[in-house]
Amino acid sequence: MQTNAETGAVGVNDVVSIERLGAIALVALDNPPVNAASHALRSGLWQAVEELQKDQDIKAIAVYGKGRTFIAGADIREFGKPPQDPWLPDLCNFLESCPTPIVCVLHGTTLGGGLEVALSCHARIAITGTKVGLPEVTLGILPGAGGTQRAPRLAGVKASLEMITSGKPIAADKALQSGLVDRVEDGAPRDVAVQAARDVIDQTLQTRRTGELTAEQDNEAVRDMRDKLANTQPLLFSPHKCVDAVEASHLPLTEGLKEERRLFNECMESPQRAGLIHAFFAERAVSKIPEASATPRDLDLIGVIGSGTMGSGIATALLLAGFQVILTERDQDGLDRGTATIGNNLEGAVKRGKLTTQARDAILENKLSTSTDLSSLSNADLVIEAVFEDMGVKREIFEKLDECVKPGAVLASNTSYLDINQIAATTSRPQDVIGLHFFSPAHVMRLLEVVVADKTSADVVATGFALAKRLKKIGVRSGVCDGFIGNRIMTFYKKAADYMMMDGASPKEIDEAMRGFGLAMGPYQVADLAGLDISWAANKRRAATRPPEERYIPIADQLCEQGWFGRKTGQGFYIYDDDGTRPNPKALEIIDDERRKAGVTPRAFSSEEIVNRFTTAMILEATRVLEEKIALRPIDVDAVFLFGYGFPRFRGGPMHTADQIGPKELVRRIEEYAQEDDYYWQVPDLLRKMAETGETFAQMNERV
Ligand code: 3HC
Ligand code: NAI
Repeated sequence: MQTNAETGAVGVNDVVSIERLGAIALVALDNPPVNAASHALRSGLWQAVEELQKDQDIKAIAVYGKGRTFIAGADIREFGKPPQDPWLPDLCNFLESCPTPIVCVLHGTTLGGGLEVALSCHARIAITGTKVGLPEVTLGILPGAGGTQRAPRLAGVKASLEMITSGKPIAADKALQSGLVDRVEDGAPRDVAVQAARDVIDQTLQTRRTGELTAEQDNEAVRDMRDKLANTQPLLFSPHKCVDAVEASHLPLTEGLKEERRLFNECMESPQRAGLIHAFFAERAVSKIPEASATPRDLDLIGVIGSGTMGSGIATALLLAGFQVILTERDQDGLDRGTATIGNNLEGAVKRGKLTTQARDAILENKLSTSTDLSSLSNADLVIEAVFEDMGVKREIFEKLDECVKPGAVLASNTSYLDINQIAATTSRPQDVIGLHFFSPAHVMRLLEVVVADKTSADVVATGFALAKRLKKIGVRSGVCDGFIGNRIMTFYKKAADYMMMDGASPKEIDEAMRGFGLAMGPYQVADLAGLDISWAANKRRAATRPPEERYIPIADQLCEQGWFGRKTGQGFYIYDDDGTRPNPKALEIIDDERRKAGVTPRAFSSEEIVNRFTTAMILEATRVLEEKIALRPIDVDAVFLFGYGFPRFRGGPMHTADQIGPKELVRRIEEYAQEDDYYWQVPDLLRKMAETGETFAQMNERV
């Protein structure tokens, strides 16, 4: 045990210490970075309270957290490993039963098991600015340390259902209104803790055991939430279990806790839990890049070239993050269109309550300027090009940028597919050139592929990642290839969908099957939304180099020949006169026609076969992307699909899904499909090796 010479605090272990001040005792938790309730924290807190409750001189205990937050939840890294005593639920019961009153001081993000610890104490004070929540559902579980039983006893069933099924944290004042905390105060956690413990002794702060209160049954709230979730989250497992657990809160505490434990265990065993936790770590793992130690360049003034779909979205994202933006276009008409779109986007942010009207006006007045002259970008720290997807046009622009933009500026292209090395080669400063591939709508979608070319310098890569962070986006490092990580894999699996369409499945059947798997949209809905003309242009570009062995399905091209580019022209694979769910009968005729021309007798495809072929194709190309080191790790591929392509979070991403299926089964499937088409369906060497050695993609994440 170590004693702090200044405060006299005595360490119970590495993360928990006790400080005695007369009749009060402070228990400090110090487990950086987020005070997760690891084994050390749980056992330290237990030991501290056990020791203090035996001490007749101690009349009140105050627990607080050091660092940036009180406990932010159970230690997620311990999930799936053998549990170590004391368990969090036992600790909570132990705290609640302590004869000496315990008050708890909350700050930062008091989440999950952290809030459950707090609910088990006898009074709670939140420091102004604290957020409290039970986000377990976002990890595929439910609050498993009494949260589903104690929150309703303090805040009622309805408010608890809302909080627990949404997983969304609430602000301290709302927590006060709902009864989850007793006071909101200003001050440093330790100071507030000292005063709170004194108030307990003076009886100016009431204490009570949450478990001794009763929760009013609220069948209507339970029924309403069940109905809502059945509609909005039919594929998810844990939200429904959260409702079951909260419903049990009218039972005596021990019975309710038993029911909570049973349901919690079901969630823990669900594959969705593993998928959602993988997604949580994917979001954070992608920032671990080889260039992480480089110092990003300063960014303030950013130029955007082209104010079409992407340029105006990118400019909006930059403005919302506080950057100074110069938007350039070919002519004034283009600029007017762009500024109108930006205005609408900002108006949307105002409507959603993300921006005040004053802030919107200030942005438009002070932060955005426009020009039809590229030399207006001479002082920009970063220029993002978002003009037509045409190498000639892009090269011309980069040549001009090389002449007019200050040395040291980062020159970026938002190209979807084109070779960043070729673009960089038109400049005298290829080290400053990078791909910043945003996703549409750019001010909404979270993914940003940071495409690193052969000569891109480390600080320029670090700048790309720093930009992603400022924009609250998820930057994923990609190497250069046709389409980078995401579009390359998408181009490949889209072919598998097209082959199924040609062989007998309708676009609607394919879309429905993939939505049933959990994709936000089916591949033909995506194609119609993105614009069929985009892939038409890419198909034409690739026509000259397309290998003769490759089976080519010209159906979408035929639609484009008719001027049907999807949603923007009112029809594509679907008709967009109402909600866009009606298949386009004329598209179905074209499909029939093409089948006849190719001599294909259509056959039926089950949803299972559609999903299997589609996901296998996705994993196949993703494995090649890894083999070629275009993606750093499997988890980077997962992040791209989770945050840019609507891949279901509960499945963790394509590589996590691949581990669930297993390499042997994947090889078996590919070999089976290869009997029809051995050019498209080829087993990647890496996958074959994995089938032999049993290595998983998860293990490769650990290794890098
Ligand atoms: N367990 C283990 N590690 C955690 C963690 C947790 N609960 N929460 C965060 N971390 C890690 C992160 O992985 C990250 O590690 P890294 O630096 O190695 O990448 C580090 O802590 C810092 O996290 P962030 O980068 O996310 O820091 P932020 O300041 O941006 O966000 C936060 C802080 C809001 C607390 C955010 O990390 C978060 O939302 N964490 C998860 C909270 C949560 O879901 N709690 C419930 C857990 S489940 C539970 O309690 C079950 C119980 O009911 C039995
Ligand atoms: P768009 O056609 O909507 O906009 C392009 C804009 O560039 C037009 O406004 C055009 O007037 C302008 N422009 C063309 N030449 C110019 C020049 N020399 N100087 C200044 N402006 C010029 O195209 P979109 O969809 O915005 O795409 C732009 C780029 O972003 C392309 O490289 C595309 O591949 C890429 N991209 C597109 C995505 C999408 O979903 N649309 C997603 C991600 C990337």
